[in-house]
Amino acid sequence: MLAALAALFATPLFAQTTDVDRLITDSCATCHTQTGNSLAPPFPKLAGLSAEYLAKQLRDVRSGARKSEIMQPILGDLSRGEIQAIANYFSRQQRTPGIVTNPKLIAAGERVYLEGNKENGVPACAGCHTKTGAGAPRFPMIAAQNAEYVIQQLRNFRSGERTNDFGMLMRTTVSRLTDDEIQAVAQYVASMPVPPVGR
Ligand code: HEC
Ligand code: HEC
Repeated sequence: MLAALAALFATPLFAQTTDVDRLITDSCATCHTQTGNSLAPPFPKLAGLSAEYLAKQLRDVRSGARKSEIMQPILGDLSRGEIQAIANYFSRQQRTPGIVTNPKLIAAGERVYLEGNKENGVPACAGCHTKTGAGAPRFPMIAAQNAEYVIQQLRNFRSGERTNDFGMLMRTTVSRLTDDEIQAVAQYVASMPVPPVGR
């Protein structure tokens, strides 16, 4: 009797977890891996991003507010509940260390990240993404993110390809960023130590 009751209560919870695992295996893991530590440089790491930021990106891609030809068809069928479950899942995964492809640029990138550039009016990235790159619920964790992805997003915000940043915070920031600064800051970001899960 007790065992049967325990089984009754245990089943739905268990089913929920395996459902999310399964969904990710079937629809996301090819590009992002099961733990959200995407290996291909153009694909973002999802591990460690806040659930709030992840859910917003999934909704934005699904609605077209953030353009992605690759992702939009995949997200089209997801329910609100599935989006929230996926966001919760990846927010709890431990991010793996980043890969630096051009170490010579790290020092210049660190200056941009921590101090910005007073000459062209670029604000310090640390002001919003925090000094450690761990971020905050609405400000994405960028420490140890794939450098190639970071470069692409900075270019997308600068060219107006990506416009889903609230208050135009990123578009305003990167409008004055030079190509050299983009390359350098992406190397520094990749070199930053991984913040712990849950910060
Ligand atoms: C075919 C490869 C592919 C598959 C499959 C895929 N993604 Fe993506 N994903 C991408 C690419 C490429 C981007 C970057 C889009 C861009 O350039 O803006 C991305 C971006 C994202 C982002 C934004 C991350 C950030 O840092 O802003 C999230 C969240 C995401 N994907 C979640 C998912 C989920 C959840 C699934 C499964 C339901 C999935 N993806 C399946 C390739 C893929
Ligand atoms: C005034 C606040 C602010 C500043 C300063 C700022 N950012 Fe951001 N950044 C944001 C916000 C907010 C987002 C998320 C936008 C959204 O919700 O889609 C973001 C997103 C990003 C992304 C995309 C992350 C992803 O996973 O797709 C990258 C990369 C990034 N910022 C890098 C930088 C760099 C590098 C600097 C310094 C040159 C910087 N940011 C300065 C607020 C800021």
